[in-house]
Amino acid sequence: MKVLLINGSPRVHGNTAFALEQMAQVFAELGIETETIQVGNQLIRGCQGCGGCYKLGKCVFHDDIVNETAEKLAHADGMVVGSPVYYASPNGTLISFLDRLFYSNSADLRMKVGASIVCARRGGTTAAMDVLNKYFTISQMPVASSSYWNIIHGGKPGEATQDPEGIRTMRNLAKNMAFMMKAFEAAKDTVELPAPDPKVFTNFIR
Ligand SMILES: Cc1cc2nc3c(=O)[nH]c(=O)nc-3n(C[C@H](O)[C@H](O)[C@H](O)COP(=O)(O)O)c2cc1C
Repeated sequence: MKVLLINGSPRVHGNTAFALEQMAQVFAELGIETETIQVGNQLIRGCQGCGGCYKLGKCVFHDDIVNETAEKLAHADGMVVGSPVYYASPNGTLISFLDRLFYSNSADLRMKVGASIVCARRGGTTAAMDVLNKYFTISQMPVASSSYWNIIHGGKPGEATQDPEGIRTMRNLAKNMAFMMKAFEAAKDTVELPAPDPKVFTNFIR
């Protein structure tokens, strides 16, 4: 089993990275492979709404990271998205990345487990987490939860090491996520994926 860990922070060794590392340790203990993808330190443009991905099945831009991650996600069992809180939201580079990744993706993401974690000095955490969870919940990806909302606190790099409750939350999240992924895998041969209703696409104007 494999989980992608997305670090939305421009700080490769910042507090978000530390939180993701806590989860990676638990996954390793439970025999689950992880791959960390550094997103926040890259130049990633936003979606231009061209619709080219409808034809291509992938994003029209060749900055590699979006389409490469889509390929990896297609073969992963789960995905953790980590973000520093910027103005009570996930940081901008990560949003550009996620908009393009989820909009252009043509893979079947159903029942891949998603989790979002956020890191803040002080405020805006649950609002940021809410934004991130919406990528999963429009993609038929069940969202894992923990013993608290998935938050760790710290300002300067390294400060999150002083938040034991945050660390516990990250570790419990990884344990719960591992359980979900293993349970879904075990059920694959006995429980069929639900057949979706026929597609309907209506705008509010009619
Ligand atoms: C542009 C910017 C906006 C920020 N906005 C917030 C905020 O709204 N709330 C907060 O608690 N911390 C805010 N912070 C602080 C970061 O969330 C905090 O430093 C966090 O530890 C960064 O995580 P990282 O080390 O993984 O990058 C902001 C930092 C920056 C650079």
